[in-house]
Amino acid sequence: MSEVTTALLEKISTGTIHVGIVGLGYVGLPLALAFLERAKTKVTGFDVDERKVNLLNQGETYIMHMGKDRVRLANASGLFHATSNFDELCEPDALMIAVPTPLTAQREPDMKYVADTVSAIAKRLRRGQLIVLESTTYPGTTDELVRQSLDGSGLKCGEDYFLAFSPEREDPGNKHFNTATIPKIVGGVDADSGALATALYSLAIEQVIQVRSARVAEATKLTENIFRGVNIALVNELKMVYERMGIDIWDVLAAASTKPFGFMRFNPGPGLGGHCIPLDPFYLTWKAREYGMSTRFIELAGEININMPRYVVDKLQTGLNEARKPLKGSKVLVLGIAYKKDIDDPRESPSFELMHLLLERGAIVQYHDPHVLVAPSMRSWPHLPAMASQPLTKALLNAQDAVLIATDHTGVDYPLVLRESSLLIDTRGVYQNPEPNVLKA
Ligand SMILES: NC(=O)c1ccc[n+]([C@@H]2O[C@H](COP(=O)([O-])OP(=O)(O)OC[C@H]3O[C@@H](n4cnc5c(N)ncnc54)[C@H](O)[C@@H]3O)[C@@H](O)[C@H]2O)c1
Repeated sequence: MSEVTTALLEKISTGTIHVGIVGLGYVGLPLALAFLERAKTKVTGFDVDERKVNLLNQGETYIMHMGKDRVRLANASGLFHATSNFDELCEPDALMIAVPTPLTAQREPDMKYVADTVSAIAKRLRRGQLIVLESTTYPGTTDELVRQSLDGSGLKCGEDYFLAFSPEREDPGNKHFNTATIPKIVGGVDADSGALATALYSLAIEQVIQVRSARVAEATKLTENIFRGVNIALVNELKMVYERMGIDIWDVLAAASTKPFGFMRFNPGPGLGGHCIPLDPFYLTWKAREYGMSTRFIELAGEININMPRYVVDKLQTGLNEARKPLKGSKVLVLGIAYKKDIDDPRESPSFELMHLLLERGAIVQYHDPHVLVAPSMRSWPHLPAMASQPLTKALLNAQDAVLIATDHTGVDYPLVLRESSLLIDTRGVYQNPEPNVLKA
């Protein structure tokens, strides 16, 4: 083990290491708090978004489920500060990168954010720094794209600086697991990098699992998300098949879930949402092409999941038809626009596609979401009109021709919704028993 490695290990084992997190979003902010709260290390947060930097430096948060108190305490500890001055990137001993990895309009990996961040680090890289990529990406990113850029500094990977990949498994809103209690996978591009990154995360995270390489770690994250995407598509397909047969998928899932082995429950829904599952699998599809391989399960699952909003709107249209009403000119209330229950994140939420399809067919659309009070302008649906959440009242429900439950937030008064709506489209299995005004979709 080199002198540089030993010095860094010493800083980790004594808790004197200075940690930097680049990208203070849904992944970066909880990670920063985990290091502050559990390891009591000095933490610098970097972000290009000055609004976030200013809020954090005032002890305020911008993510609903990240308790305000946690950020206030972090700020008061004197160990944390946020900055958009990237010259400070040379100060932390370890830098963890948690910037976005979206898809381009052609559904190819958009590596711009990672590339910009790594190039900003490369300009200031110093001997003895450990760099860890956390952003979800295709296998080979750390070893190829990131390493090449950092090597441009003239420093040598594995000797002067260290490099690893550690995927984030954050599940926003999950009451049972948080950043510190979700086991963490770590893979270094060489032995020293892997050992250092494992020691570093062990300061803040209960269980750290070191895998053989950064590529294994990258592939692990994609495998987890592909597994979810494919299984959600399967259950969505089964929902449509059983529906034709007059069988309720929710009854079937409740029964199948009693099997104590060999079955894992996934729920159907109006389509995929969030930053991860609709996007990440296509990172593998793109990389597989380089090896002359196709990813048929991923493509098929994508096709089924992408078509779900259209299936739901068709179902709603059928319900209105029964009541002799055309969708054109009908009033429709969408309940829930966050991509899943009890969070405030609307990214890639199928609710936006649902609203787009409803508006395209001439409906008059409003929404209610207790966690998303103003619908943000969305990259994939820039044409949607500006909208704000409507208070959920008897009068609002009575005025609708149909109410569409897209996200099943806990705080919503579902008995009121059932009582006061003439037609309800339930995509989340909120109402277990058959109800005359409820269509499951
Ligand atoms: N949100 C999740 O639940 C989740 C779970 C697992 C993995 N991931 C992955 O983690 C990564 C980050 O996702 P997220 O949800 O935290 O995204 P996010 O959009 O919430 O946060 C990313 C942050 O990075 C900042 N940023 C963008 N470019 C930057 C740059 N060049 N330098 C510094 N900061 C920059 C943005 O301003 C933003 O604050 C993605 O690769 C995502 O796929 C997300």
